[in-house]
Amino acid sequence: MSTSPLRGRDLVSAADLSAAEIGLLFTRSAALKAEFRARRRHAEAPLQGLTLAMLFQKPSLRTRVTFEAGMTQLGGHAIYLTEGTVLGGRESVGDVARNLENMVDAIMARTGPHEVVVELAARASIPVINGLTIREHPCQALADLFTLYERFGDLRGVTLAFVGDGNNVYHSLALMGATLGMHVRLAHPAGYGPAERIVERARTLAVAAGGSLSFTQEPREAVEGAQAVYTDAWTSMGQEAEAEERRDAFARFQVNAALIAAAPEAVVMHCLPAHREEEITSEVMDGPQSVIFDQSENRLHAQKALLAELLAG
Ligand code: CP
Repeated sequence: MSTSPLRGRDLVSAADLSAAEIGLLFTRSAALKAEFRARRRHAEAPLQGLTLAMLFQKPSLRTRVTFEAGMTQLGGHAIYLTEGTVLGGRESVGDVARNLENMVDAIMARTGPHEVVVELAARASIPVINGLTIREHPCQALADLFTLYERFGDLRGVTLAFVGDGNNVYHSLALMGATLGMHVRLAHPAGYGPAERIVERARTLAVAAGGSLSFTQEPREAVEGAQAVYTDAWTSMGQEAEAEERRDAFARFQVNAALIAAAPEAVVMHCLPAHREEEITSEVMDGPQSVIFDQSENRLHAQKALLAELLAG
């Protein structure tokens, strides 16, 4: 059997994966999901004897549990490390990387600054996975687009409308969606758009794959005709001081029944955690168009596929 093209690689940005590699991960995610759903066990343990160090500078439910459970379910082990033990100024990022590469087989890191994950990846000889930074959340995008792949198959030409902040989740969706030839729209309030360098990179990827990026300040314009409507919290981790100002700025950008009426065929998505009745109403979140809890389940399956390909593919 040939070696996986992902073996030994890092996942720092959603742009690190080609369309073929994303397709490989979707296929493996689907197989792992079907097997796990049928038996709650896997017949093989490809990660037996392997260890993942998980570094968290920020809180988490889904990322921690899906990576830790995913390692266990594939025969490996995960170690949870918090700010008090690493990346809190106790030693340099480079020294953390040089220690961990001699002890474990991969690192997953959730940090504030993106540069910390970039440096870990540059310094460590083992795979480094971005578990969320201020700039990107590639594992979320992988699980989200796998969720759409389950419904639509080939994602070329599929339209995803993101309503809200041009944040890290939008950045990774735009990059990965563009790679797959999707049409990625963003409706955002003035002053809350995405980073220009991410937009430039995503535009280049979209042009090459036959997709597009577009921007508006009118949520209804973005969602009309879309196959997926996506939202995220208006205030991300670390922006708590801006919460009130953001509530005012984003008030027109709530995903509610009136907005969804303009996209009656669309699935509704959210990366969670949600602030019910702020960026999304409970009526929509728990309604028939919602695939939100499929997305969170798919974090498990997509990341297991990623770990298996990076470490044992
Ligand atoms: N969506 C997401 O990354 O969830 P957590 O912050 O709970 O990990």
